[in-house]
Amino acid sequence: MQYKRIIEVMAEKAVGLQFEVRGWVRSCRNSKEVTFIDLNDGSCLASLQVVADGALANYADEVKRLSNGSAVVVMGELCVSPAQGQAVELRAASLKVVGWAPEEYPLQKKRQSFEFLREIAHLRPRTNSLGAVARVRSALSYAVHTFFKERGFFYVHTPIISTGDCEGAGETFTVSALNLEQLAKEGGNIDWSQDFFGRRANLTVSGQLEAEAYAMALGRVYTFGPTFRAENSNTSRHLAEFWMVEPEMTFCDLNDDIDLAETFLKYLVRYALDHCQDDLALMENFIDKELLFRLENVLAKEFVRLPYTEAVRLLTEAKGDFAYQVQWGADLHSEHERFLTEQIFKQPVVVTDYPMAIKPFYMRANDDGRTVAAMDILFPGIGEIVGGSQREERLDRLVARMEAAGMGLDDYQWYLDLRRYGSAPHAGFGLGFERIVQFVTGMKNIREVIPFPRTPGSAAF
Ligand code: 4AD
Ligand code: MG
Repeated sequence: MQYKRIIEVMAEKAVGLQFEVRGWVRSCRNSKEVTFIDLNDGSCLASLQVVADGALANYADEVKRLSNGSAVVVMGELCVSPAQGQAVELRAASLKVVGWAPEEYPLQKKRQSFEFLREIAHLRPRTNSLGAVARVRSALSYAVHTFFKERGFFYVHTPIISTGDCEGAGETFTVSALNLEQLAKEGGNIDWSQDFFGRRANLTVSGQLEAEAYAMALGRVYTFGPTFRAENSNTSRHLAEFWMVEPEMTFCDLNDDIDLAETFLKYLVRYALDHCQDDLALMENFIDKELLFRLENVLAKEFVRLPYTEAVRLLTEAKGDFAYQVQWGADLHSEHERFLTEQIFKQPVVVTDYPMAIKPFYMRANDDGRTVAAMDILFPGIGEIVGGSQREERLDRLVARMEAAGMGLDDYQWYLDLRRYGSAPHAGFGLGFERIVQFVTGMKNIREVIPFPRTPGSAAF
């Protein structure tokens, strides 16, 4: 017997064909000697209506007693559905219950809050909305790779365990094989030289520095992997574990970098619009009525490019009701970022040339001596979605910056070698992958767009 996934069944609508489907009961209702089952197998948003009647040998004992969440295998013939709501239905010739879900199955018909669903992160992908997010996330991951492949970038697997802190924010998770409980009992100091790596190590906050090494060899590379930050930000946009896409290109400057980022973001949005129509339509219906408008709006225009100094001037003139004052030299807060994208420009904005003092050591110094060739891309509703820069390729300047930042140069000799041997101008950026999934799906909280979110106080699943 031919087996089909529901996505194929819905695409082909091959009335008269006999085949088998396998999935889970989303809902079911009995009417006299007939049971109507909404069967979902996760291949797409749509469920297939299965009609099972008293002629089945196990009708009274099993089919009639079916419950939401049960796993079943159905064989039957596809027919035109006489009722409203679906074009076709599968008339069951046999129905086998593979796994029962008893009544306490937590996903019943009524809609449950995202907060509640987070408590059952292992079951929530079985809901329409979280299933849709999972499919969109997968589609966008695939699009990341096709985008870079089409442009001659090589995919580099940068390490997860690191001894550096690329962003210099001191927000790293330590990786240790020491017996910390024993050490605590003994009350002594920790001797990292006795630890697994012979020194203190941490989970990486970014694959950029290692990507730079490979860019200097292969010309154009990208990494796409998990990154970790122990920042205590309990917001709807921060995770302790998130995925980042980081391209790095040689022989290019900040403008080339922004061009790449803009093309990339538009490519991802276009890809989702073209490949995830049903899932996005669901999100538009239930999550955000303006979703498709906002997605199209990103594609419609060139992103605004705005030097930081200009942004500060506009924000100061706008006299917005801000909790944090806007001041040259201070970082923009999310309220300022949102004001720029949502009130002033109503579209994505690329802020460039930030003050040197608020950006990491690796960003290239501009000639004015006080700003760096940095860029942040701000999206309406999200704030910062991309952070990037041209890199400081001049050895003496880089060393001076690192010394000024109080960094131990010994640990970064390998990074300085990239400037000693055949240094070349280069640039790159990091896209917070969950933030683009958030933007594309319209999900309000970043915890809904990663399967098992890790946030302060929460790593339970
Ligand atoms: O701006 P960030 O810190 O830049 C870097 O890490 C650079 N090394 C990237 C590079 O140039 N290769 O982070 C980049 C992006 C941010 O714009 C944001 O979208 C996302 O990563 N991001 C987070 N996403 C979720 N949770 C967090 N805690 C995040 N921190 C940053
Ligand atoms: Mg940033």
